[in-house]
Amino acid sequence: MISFGGGLPSPETFPIKEIEEIACQMLREKGTVALQYGPTEGEPELREEITKWMRREKAAVKPENILVTSGSQQGLDIISKIFLDPDDIIIVELPSYMGGLQAFSAYRAKLVGVPQDNDGIRTDLLEKALAKLARRHRKPKFIYVVPDFQNPSGVTLTLERRKRLLELAHEYEVPIIEDSPYRDLRFAGNFVPMICSLDNENHVIALGTFSKLLCPGLRLAWIAAPTDWMERMVAAKQSMDLSSPIFTQLIVAEYLKRGLLPQQVDNIRKLYAKKREAMIKALQRYMPREVTWTEPEGGLFLWVKLPNQMDTNALFPKAVESKVAYVIVSAFHFNGKGQNTMRLNFSYPSEAQIEEGIRRLANVIRENM
Ligand SMILES: Cc1ncc(COP(=O)(O)O)c(C=O)c1O
Repeated sequence: MISFGGGLPSPETFPIKEIEEIACQMLREKGTVALQYGPTEGEPELREEITKWMRREKAAVKPENILVTSGSQQGLDIISKIFLDPDDIIIVELPSYMGGLQAFSAYRAKLVGVPQDNDGIRTDLLEKALAKLARRHRKPKFIYVVPDFQNPSGVTLTLERRKRLLELAHEYEVPIIEDSPYRDLRFAGNFVPMICSLDNENHVIALGTFSKLLCPGLRLAWIAAPTDWMERMVAAKQSMDLSSPIFTQLIVAEYLKRGLLPQQVDNIRKLYAKKREAMIKALQRYMPREVTWTEPEGGLFLWVKLPNQMDTNALFPKAVESKVAYVIVSAFHFNGKGQNTMRLNFSYPSEAQIEEGIRRLANVIRENM
């Protein structure tokens, strides 16, 4: 079976040797701290290092604005916990990250979807949605976006739209949740600033994670939030797990202090750029002409569109019979749309598997068109 399904980083990129060395040294020198309970906000040295990492982007964060979380998934849960009551409205992109939709739905939020195109969320349609809600005296609790190499679509929000999104957030006084796990994995195109770095009115809560930069098994991520929200977030996290593991926090803090992350990220970028290239070439070679796809400038995924009448859900068992798997993108919509689309992951399979898997998938599609 060749799977383009999961969102797994390539294990080739895990810095196992460095982590082993740092972990051993840390246990020898700081074992009693590493194995003890620690502050809910996160270890001060890690918060400091995350701040430095974000400041490369000119994001004006301070260590006291950083909350270390057990994965960004926990960050989304914390945000839901402090913002959402049943029937509250939030705005999400269509399609949107499934784990985000799950977190918000668990708090019984009502989701309003705004479609994307190749430039990210359609801010003209967002404006209409906000105006329509305002006429009904409804104010969304937040707007949730994954602006860089989005999961599942792979598209990136343009600078003009980032600015427009912020203007709308200010005008309608709705916070933006900027969830950006793939941001540093850019391998083509031009740098676009983080939305939080363009904001000077404290309207953006940003989420970052080490899952795609180091390894997801560490379960370490962060929320960078304006001071007004921090206290409630810390209280929400405290009731979930008291703190994220001090052991892995100290490992990552040391890894960052040693200045190893830029080289690590560079290696990942190079590897994924090759894999993405291999996938695009295979799609060009094998797919029927009616099939289209996004060409992401970074991240882990691309998004394939089949002719309108096709249904990737119905096609799935046939693909599995041919020993190839993908993710059905209708799962990333919550309104029954997107039935003719699929998400393909290129970070995990090898280049040879990408070539063979796309060949198999193209055959299944052709036979069922
Ligand atoms: C958009 C988005 N947000 C959050 C997450 C969760 O990441 P983490 O491993 O940090 O919990 C993912 C994971 O794939 C994701 O794609």
